[in-house]
Amino acid sequence: MDELMRVENLTTAELYRAAEILKGGGLVAIPTETVYGLAANALDPRAVSRIFAAKDRPFFDPLIVHLADVDWWPRVVSEFPPLARRLAERFWPGPLTLILPKSNAVPDLVTSGMPTVGIRIPDHPLTQQLLRMADIPVAAPSANPFGRLSPTTAEHVRQQLGDRIEMILDGGSCRVGIESTILQIHGDAVTLLRPGGIDLESIEALIGPVGRPSPSAQNQPAAPGMLDSHYAPRTKLSLVDQIPHQAPSASVGALVFTEESNLSGYAAIETLSSSVDLVEAAAGFFQALHRLDQGGLELILACPFPDQGLGRALNDRLRRAAHG
Ligand code: TXA
Ligand code: MG
Repeated sequence: MDELMRVENLTTAELYRAAEILKGGGLVAIPTETVYGLAANALDPRAVSRIFAAKDRPFFDPLIVHLADVDWWPRVVSEFPPLARRLAERFWPGPLTLILPKSNAVPDLVTSGMPTVGIRIPDHPLTQQLLRMADIPVAAPSANPFGRLSPTTAEHVRQQLGDRIEMILDGGSCRVGIESTILQIHGDAVTLLRPGGIDLESIEALIGPVGRPSPSAQNQPAAPGMLDSHYAPRTKLSLVDQIPHQAPSASVGALVFTEESNLSGYAAIETLSSSVDLVEAAAGFFQALHRLDQGGLELILACPFPDQGLGRALNDRLRRAAHG
């Protein structure tokens, strides 16, 4: 048997096992283009409750439901308005989550009791196949303990949750590297709940201006992914306007967007994109933070990205990582 066939057979066997686990109410970590998700049957409240237990996630934080195909929408939402359709046609499969009125089939646990549910079609071949094989919508938050760094490799999941779940489906490094953009759709109005892997410019080019939630709504449990402290390394992280040339002490690490030639005395420097590319920076962002977090440092310094394109989502993650 040649190598390619051997790998394909292996993968098929793994997908089959993953589908059986999901159908049986178990947990599987799945690769997506954004970050790894911790998946369970979205229509089975007992399976969903296991997600919350494995992550130590509070029940007020609702989950995103993943579908194989846009035709699956009637399984989980009660209406799919024309605006949602336009967004879906353009950006699915891909890193965009749409918040829509939920159908009765979706347990309250998935939505934290809200009348809406977040849905998306992930753009990863293994997970697409898995969803079709299992033939069930799966609820999947990022596969990390609540509030900690998101996983963008199977190894990150193994380290953070390995002993709490049945299986990790290894689909390599996540291509986009940051979570999906979340849009709330109400009729023909759209609100940005979380900046993410599809930039606002592309969305507004398609549908016109997108609203922002009012500042007073920021800390309400309606969108707890927006809690001030989130996506945090264990090591203290400080946001600064500029990384000082000389490290303030011996065990400080720096997370920099692009090549900075004159930094000295840092215990570790992670450069995200030597070609000054925000897409490349996003792809490596969580991996760099995981490495810095494991470097035994006392402090990580980072400065904000340009506030455009994926830079918005990166700045959002940095601010929350620095808050803790
Ligand atoms: O890219 C992603 O979105 C990844 C992959 C695995 O798909 N998933 C992810 O899930 O980031 P999670 O659980 O880390 O973030 C989900 C966030 C919640 O914290 C909440 O802010 C928002 O989605 N959300 C989910 N359902 C909602 C709803 N009905 N209304 C408002 N916000 C909702
Ligand atoms: Mg998360």
